[in-house]
Amino acid sequence: MPVPLHPPALQLAARTARIEPFRVMELVKRARALEHAGRSITHLSIGEPDFTAAPPVVAALKAAVDAGATGYTAALGLHALREAIARHAGDAHGVDLDPARVVVTAGASAALLLACCALVDPGAQVLMADPCYPCNRHFVSAFDGVPVTIPVGAGSRFQLDAATVAAHWTAAVRGVLLATPSNPTGTSIAFDELARLVDVARARGGFTLVDEIYLDLAYGHRPQSAVALGSDVLVAGSFSKFFHMTGWRLGWLVVPPALVDTFEKLAQNLFICPSALAQHAALACFEPEAMALYRQRRDEFQARRDYIVPALRELGFSIPVEPDGAFYVYLDCSAFTADSSAFASQMLEEAGVALVPGEDFGSHQPQRWLRLSYATSLAHLHEAVQRLRAWLPPRTASPG
Ligand SMILES: Cc1ncc(COP(=O)(O)O)c(C=O)c1O
Repeated sequence: MPVPLHPPALQLAARTARIEPFRVMELVKRARALEHAGRSITHLSIGEPDFTAAPPVVAALKAAVDAGATGYTAALGLHALREAIARHAGDAHGVDLDPARVVVTAGASAALLLACCALVDPGAQVLMADPCYPCNRHFVSAFDGVPVTIPVGAGSRFQLDAATVAAHWTAAVRGVLLATPSNPTGTSIAFDELARLVDVARARGGFTLVDEIYLDLAYGHRPQSAVALGSDVLVAGSFSKFFHMTGWRLGWLVVPPALVDTFEKLAQNLFICPSALAQHAALACFEPEAMALYRQRRDEFQARRDYIVPALRELGFSIPVEPDGAFYVYLDCSAFTADSSAFASQMLEEAGVALVPGEDFGSHQPQRWLRLSYATSLAHLHEAVQRLRAWLPPRTASPG
């Protein structure tokens, strides 16, 4: 049969219209195109560590390949890995976590998707901060739920608080999605406030889903995990950031004991299992040699933060809340521009510095903000500051 030259367009599901492009990826595409054309670009846009997995993890991957450990695993993940994740929660955050509650997933992305699949009915609302990680809205929309973004500002460290969540809770709300430390602001929720947030959702029969993908990248304090706040709290984690394994696609979700079977059923059908090779390799993350290296690299991130935050302030940006985790700074660029999107494009094209405009993270004053990722070397950060010093236009207003 001949293949039709102009087949009719397929009718798309309505939800696709509610899912916006992941703009940082578009920006990275443009930055790469400029590099291909011979330009030198300083990348401060993507939230991806410049480090790779620790040597014991790479060795464990090679050993797993050689041993032919490439078949499907259990849908919930390798038992030994679930145990190791639970042990890490105890060692790093002092919580007693039953490994049976750990579901290993293809990154925190699959963890958040699974949680929405299990908990969000069509039309159900999920509360989240604005600004927040852009995919959060789309995880909810993918199951025909309704993401409700609540503007947050410097006064609450760019995070939701219990009173605000209580004020926005209606009969249509099914739960709240939090991230601490947050992307794009690098700020954490104080633990007592997190406990109050959980209480607000619990008292209304709703769920609390806490994204702790950056929890091990906390500076100046020992982070506490939402796992400690009750077995009804769902908590997502990942090997992407602290363990520098972004492309390996491995994370986890801690689920309430009574829901393990439901999550197993969903994981079996939607994913079969997470990558077997990545799981075997990830076991080595928790070996003392690897953990020592990861902690050393966390200190390196902290040193980068300690350099870049004052340097940006000195350039004229306002940073109203000191970031205390992850590898992001949320900058107020209103001293230079009323349009952070145009400003970011111009900065990329003219100064060769790639930052992400606020519009990627929500609709609350996005034109005032830029996100800088310091998941890159100090040398690159110095270079970026030099380029910006030479490029920045005169200030038109005082920041803030
Ligand atoms: C807050 C947040 N949650 C989830 C993810 C997804 O991470 P993963 O690579 O584990 O899927 C990211 C990635 O940048 C993130 O910033």
